[in-house]
Amino acid sequence: MAKPISLEKILFSQGFGTRRYCADLVYADLVKVNGVLAEDPDERISPEGLLLNVEGQDWEYHEKAYIAFHKPPNYECSHKTTHHPSIYSLLPSPFVERGLQCVGRLDYDTTGLLLISDDGQFIHKMTTPKKNIGKVYEITTSDPVTEKQMDHLLKGVVLDDDPKPCFAQACELLSEKTLAMTIVEGRYHQVKRMMAAVGNHVEQLHRSQIGAYVMPKDLAPGEWRWLYPSDLKLLSQSMEA
Ligand code: URA
Repeated sequence: MAKPISLEKILFSQGFGTRRYCADLVYADLVKVNGVLAEDPDERISPEGLLLNVEGQDWEYHEKAYIAFHKPPNYECSHKTTHHPSIYSLLPSPFVERGLQCVGRLDYDTTGLLLISDDGQFIHKMTTPKKNIGKVYEITTSDPVTEKQMDHLLKGVVLDDDPKPCFAQACELLSEKTLAMTIVEGRYHQVKRMMAAVGNHVEQLHRSQIGAYVMPKDLAPGEWRWLYPSDLKLLSQSMEA
């Protein structure tokens, strides 16, 4: 069983504000612990499997947060945005407070699967090209995708900023103008630039899969969900040692 910690510290660790603010939430009768109204912010509780309710919102305790998010179009993946609102504005404020970061960014007009966490090691492992984690993009193109273009993508294309070619790990034609392409690196605008290099143009871009983790069908744009140990296992099995 996990070591008991004070309720105030638990609330603080989850991103509900300063320790003082968290204690005040308890004094204001705004915190329930496993369905029971909490009275004492110093009460020591085992955090394992804990269900909090803070200001009417249920909140599962997670020592580290790992979430899957369905990015809608017209949002930027940074905290300090330039032209569009931030994806973080669509997440509960405790996530922002505890410093969650995206595992690699998507362009403002790209939709689909983003993993977000406050575990620095996890973010590093998921983003380093050494681990060879495939990301699947569904690409809607302006012109029909030809065999020759797919062949070129698989053999590797040279982009203008790096003489080292970029390869598609896999290409599957889903319809005349829709291609599912798997890549392992995450260079700037990589998919759009690869498609331009083979003479086509990306009209819409959607990421549907990272490693063996497929975007859940029922996760609508703008929605998020916790990743559980079985999901994290799928992701770690997708990494090369
Ligand atoms: N490649 C792109 O060009 N854009 C993205 O958002 C992701 C991959």
